Amino acid sequence: MEFDCPEIAASAIPGQFVMLGLGLDAAGAWLLPRPFSVGWVGPAGTTGFLVRVFGPGTRALTRLALGERALVLGPLGRPFELEPDRPIECVAGGVGLAPFIFLAAVERAAGRDVRLLYGERDVDAVFDLELLRELTGVEPELYTEDGSAGRPGRVTTGLDPDSEASLLACGPTPMLAALARFAREHDRDLQVSVEEHMGCGIGTCQGCVVRSSDGRWVKACIEGPVFRAEDLDWGGDD
Ligand SMILES: Cc1cc2nc3c(=O)[nH]c(=O)nc-3n(C[C@H](O)[C@H](O)[C@H](O)COP(=O)(O)OP(=O)(O)OC[C@H]3O[C@@H](n4cnc5c(N)ncnc54)[C@H](O)[C@@H]3O)c2cc1C
Ligand code: FES
Repeated sequence: MEFDCPEIAASAIPGQFVMLGLGLDAAGAWLLPRPFSVGWVGPAGTTGFLVRVFGPGTRALTRLALGERALVLGPLGRPFELEPDRPIECVAGGVGLAPFIFLAAVERAAGRDVRLLYGERDVDAVFDLELLRELTGVEPELYTEDGSAGRPGRVTTGLDPDSEASLLACGPTPMLAALARFAREHDRDLQVSVEEHMGCGIGTCQGCVVRSSDGRWVKACIEGPVFRAEDLDWGGDD
């Protein structure tokens, strides 16, 4: 989905998100806004989002007709932090692909070496690869768990333990926990973008807290969504 919001297109940094909402739904009930990563920005001030339908919020959003309006609050949250000139490996699970479309496009255009590993459950869930190439300038490395497209298996199997690249990941928590374990075992630095449910996106509702490695509850909307993997508590799974 693309929205005409030039202020966000001009100021967003890859890894940041917006809260997208519609206010009242058709039945007059208030629908909380939902978080979406900034997926791409267009030259004419458009901001693009990759939206996968899960429940009422995403269903309502994707029913918007061309020209209809939505509430867009952002850009919000902490973006990815990159070291100059260092190659990056982006590991995306499902809609965790969204922030890496923006990141890969910006960094490829700046001449950085970008690898994009993208995992889905099966072929039916795979985002339009041609559009992905067009938006990013990167050849995605696709994995599906059932082998129905790309290489078979989990996206994490494509990683080289000895790579010098910075590792960045976004996707479901079990994938992030597996990557945190991989990063620790192989002494790789890893930043993760977490997909917590969010009610406000601006630090007031406490709906998005995650446990930090020093035992605090931290708000993913303002202290994240991007964290250093070692700063989070992976619940003994890592
Ligand atoms: C920082 C951030 C960035 C995000 N960026 C994107 C994005 O770019 N594109 C996008 O499509 N989504 C993104 N999400 C997830 C998106 O916000 C949720 O999918 C959305 O809030 C679901 O709202 P809903 O009302 O449709 O479903 P809900 O009613 O909230 O959920 C319906 C069912 O689906 C499950 N569910 C909801 N979200 C997910 C999920 N992400 N993965 C697996 N199961 C889920 C719920 O647990 C529930 O069982 C992001 C989330 C965060 C925190
Ligand atoms: S989403 Fe409300 S505090 Fe983070």
